[in-house]
Amino acid sequence: MGKDTVTITDNSTGKTVEFPIKRGAHGPAVMDISTLYKELKMFTYDPGFLSTASCESKITFIDGEKGVLLYRGYPIEQLAEKSDFLEVCYLLWHGELPTRKEIADYRHQINHHTMVHEGLRDFYQGFRRDAHPMSVMVGVVGALSAFYHDLLDVHNECSREISAQRLVAKMPTIAAWAYRYSRGEPFAYPRNNLSYTENFLHMMYSYPAEEYEVNPVAAKAMDLIFLLHADHEQNASTSTVRLAGSSQANPFACVSAGVGTLWGPAHGGANEAVINMLKAIGDVKNIARFVEKAKDPDDPFRLMGFGHRVYKNYDPRAKIIRKQCFEVLESMKVDDPLFEIAMKLEEIALKDEYFIQRKLYPNVDFYSGIIQRAIGIPTSMFTVIFTIGRTIGWISQWNEMITEKVQRIGRPRQLYVGAPNRDYLPIDQRK
Ligand code: SDX
Repeated sequence: MGKDTVTITDNSTGKTVEFPIKRGAHGPAVMDISTLYKELKMFTYDPGFLSTASCESKITFIDGEKGVLLYRGYPIEQLAEKSDFLEVCYLLWHGELPTRKEIADYRHQINHHTMVHEGLRDFYQGFRRDAHPMSVMVGVVGALSAFYHDLLDVHNECSREISAQRLVAKMPTIAAWAYRYSRGEPFAYPRNNLSYTENFLHMMYSYPAEEYEVNPVAAKAMDLIFLLHADHEQNASTSTVRLAGSSQANPFACVSAGVGTLWGPAHGGANEAVINMLKAIGDVKNIARFVEKAKDPDDPFRLMGFGHRVYKNYDPRAKIIRKQCFEVLESMKVDDPLFEIAMKLEEIALKDEYFIQRKLYPNVDFYSGIIQRAIGIPTSMFTVIFTIGRTIGWISQWNEMITEKVQRIGRPRQLYVGAPNRDYLPIDQRK
């Protein structure tokens, strides 16, 4: 038996099989069990994929025990301090930081894909004004393939790159228009003289009646939020995009599926749920009661923004956002009582045995809403903001999947526990 193998013995038959171990650059090794069914006529069983690696990837690495997050090998703390969102988009897609010329070309490319087909503008009229903006995002992003069907050949590198640039560039326009539509306000068009994030804020808040000056503090904070949400290895929404892409569906349809998955409060919808939770707590004196509710196994309430499948330490993104909260609130002269409640809640929870024992720490969603409130983003738009940031991660992971040497549709199996094989029962014999 080689040292780079694992041996599995089926004791019911006495059959023993060796499987190769594959080791990566960082993180746990994997046992390649792709021949398990052929050898032992058995499947693995891992609901929620707690112990399952679904793919090989070079894009993002997370060390949950140490609270480490790397984008293409670069620590998130360094990128947050020294880079910006569009440079990180280039890095995630291409795998290397751009030269001066490369990033200038990329910024130009993205800036010149921010407009959307006017037919897509009319699409909004079909939604109710009070629709949740994420329902608009699911619909409009999915509809992109009806307007940009010229370059949907997933096996053509140039088509893939332009579709990816269209998605990154148009997401802020689609998102801002969802916000404006919900308020019955005119849509603002993108401006090529503004940066990516300035453009988003311009489309969110500028009005035809007067000049609009983007607040640089708000733009910097928004750019950091996009950057911190850009990618996160094989999370639920990224796994959805990869699975959809494995059927060779077009990239717009795949990303639309990712938008739907991100909407869930257990995933990207948590940032909105955190603010609603902090509002429900209302005062630091009520924190203890909510912490008890969160610990009660019979109560479905959980502390939103707490806990993570991978991080069993402080989410490094939460640390960066928490620090940025102080700076943004100070410079925007905003005194948000919810921030005080959030910090007190964190202090109490991190000293509580229930949370310590389960290694439950604040995650990226816990503080991101505080910053977004400070720069005027409404709570219902928080997951839409997450969508804008995560689009580059989704499409870069999709591109990695679709360019793998061995292309296979993702098709998990199951443990069947339903009714055994039985004959049809005539209706007069049914009870
Ligand atoms: C994101 O995957 C990613 O990378 C996601 C993300 C990304 O960038 O893509 O990081 C973004 O989705 C962050 C997570 C946002 N969600 C929330 O904040 C919602 C609240 N958190 C929980 O729903 C939960 O922590 C999850 C969903 C995030 C993780 O769930 P797991 O890994 O399946 O953990 P679990 O449900 O098995 O919980 C383990 C134990 C359980 O208690 P016991 O059954 O052992 O007694 O911890 C408890 C849970 O009840 N628990 C919590 C809790 N989270 C877990 N108890 C109270 N409050 C919580 N928040």
